[in-house]
Amino acid sequence: MATFEPVLSRNWNVPDSHTLKVYESRGGYQAARKALAMDPEAVLNIVKDSELRGRGGAGFPCGLKWSFLPKDRKATLMCVNADESEPATFNNRILMEKDPHQFLEGILISCFATKAATAYIYLRFEYIRAFGILEAAIAEARAAGHLGKDIYGTGFNLDVWVHRGAGAYICGEETGLIESLEGKRGWPRIKPPFPAIEGAFRKPTVVNNVETLCCVPHILERGATWFKSIGVPKSYGPKLYCVSGHVNKQVCVELPLGVTCRALIDEHAGGVWKGRTAKAAVPGGISMGLLSASELDTPLDFESLRKPGCLGLGTAAVTVIDDKTSIVDYLYNTCRFFAHESCGQCTPCREGTGWFYKMLKRIKAGGGRIEDLDIMLQMANNMGIIPGTTICGLADGAAWPVKNAITKFRGELEDYIRHHQAATTKVTPLQERIAHGLPVAGNPPLPQMDGPPGPVPEGGAVAWRSPSAKPA
Ligand SMILES: Cc1cc2nc3c(=O)[nH]c(=O)nc-3n(C[C@H](O)[C@H](O)[C@H](O)COP(=O)(O)O)c2cc1C
Ligand code: SF4
Repeated sequence: MATFEPVLSRNWNVPDSHTLKVYESRGGYQAARKALAMDPEAVLNIVKDSELRGRGGAGFPCGLKWSFLPKDRKATLMCVNADESEPATFNNRILMEKDPHQFLEGILISCFATKAATAYIYLRFEYIRAFGILEAAIAEARAAGHLGKDIYGTGFNLDVWVHRGAGAYICGEETGLIESLEGKRGWPRIKPPFPAIEGAFRKPTVVNNVETLCCVPHILERGATWFKSIGVPKSYGPKLYCVSGHVNKQVCVELPLGVTCRALIDEHAGGVWKGRTAKAAVPGGISMGLLSASELDTPLDFESLRKPGCLGLGTAAVTVIDDKTSIVDYLYNTCRFFAHESCGQCTPCREGTGWFYKMLKRIKAGGGRIEDLDIMLQMANNMGIIPGTTICGLADGAAWPVKNAITKFRGELEDYIRHHQAATTKVTPLQERIAHGLPVAGNPPLPQMDGPPGPVPEGGAVAWRSPSAKPA
């Protein structure tokens, strides 16, 4: 087997890798010079032939997306998705901080291929360091003639602007991003029309992820055949995998697509921490679902993750969950995140994410019922783009962790519900006195009631008993 040579991360350990001087000394911008001497259509075809799939989550073929732009368009815009809001994902940040010129070269070639004269980098608000580095790199590239007017004397013009988001997960969804860029609330749009036909400011727009565009200079430099020699069928090229959670070493590592989750954990992240074993792992950002311990040999590529029932590769950000961690806690945190981030336009998502969260809160408080699991599963199966009930994929991302956790860890969840119910539903003498309208120290006697004393408090499980029954 040929040895793998990292390309996306090759400059990361070089001192001052973020500067133009260092980037150019290592062959930087040669691929752009080569591309700009070609016909834009020819550049687009090379990227199409490489079968580069988008690294932002959906895995859509990049060159194919570019070819959807109308042939008779008068202008094209490029929106670079640098929102990177999927929990545990940090490869875009490192790409921008360590090698901003590789990123700008990718933007330059991609804009040339799609005939875009303006590119907006929609940057996650929290990436303050990346913001400063990008601004400096753009200024350097402009001054050196890699951006601006008549680049390399070809007549091609390109301006790049950094637009900072305001910190919302939904602004990573491409049409939420476009709305936000236009100065509006980041509410995803109903598609069609897709951005390639009508995107930002109603112009044909290409939306691509940072890592996707960083692959482009290497494809131009080394060719589509080289790119397809890396990875596994239908998932070609190098990929930056992030590993975090309960591991000894949190890493972002470049490997061929198709590495197994187990190899990532054991060989690159130093194994599970504290000598424990993995109970489960999130394969590609929390919206992709959950792998159980017995599924850790699944290759992390665009196709293989469907076999164990995950949504897909997503951002290839693996989070390891050790054997001391409760799946209820994992699910509670996940559901809380999606309930907070749902934009609220679609009823199944707005209500569904909120209900998941409330039910998990109740389960954690000891008020869970076994049938809650079936109710959650039914809700999860009916929300999202895949069942066709929502505008965007946030709802699918909220549903998948619930589906996977309940089907793969049902025994643990049932045990938790039973065990915690038993521990917290014990009625205290004080609750008994209140339920029977008996005086409580310092308070006047409560009036006797004819019916049940109102709704059961959230998380509480004090059973109503007839006032005529004697306290135990
Ligand atoms: C809720 C949601 C959040 C998303 N967040 C991001 C993100 O932070 N970064 C990203 O590149 N793509 C994100 N995406 C995917 C984008 O909608 C889009 O598919 C991607 O930017 C296209 O770029 P690519 O083809 O190069 O992957 C998100 C999608 C959804 C549904
Ligand atoms: S699925 Fe959820 S996040 Fe997406 S548009 Fe509908 S309500 Fe908003």
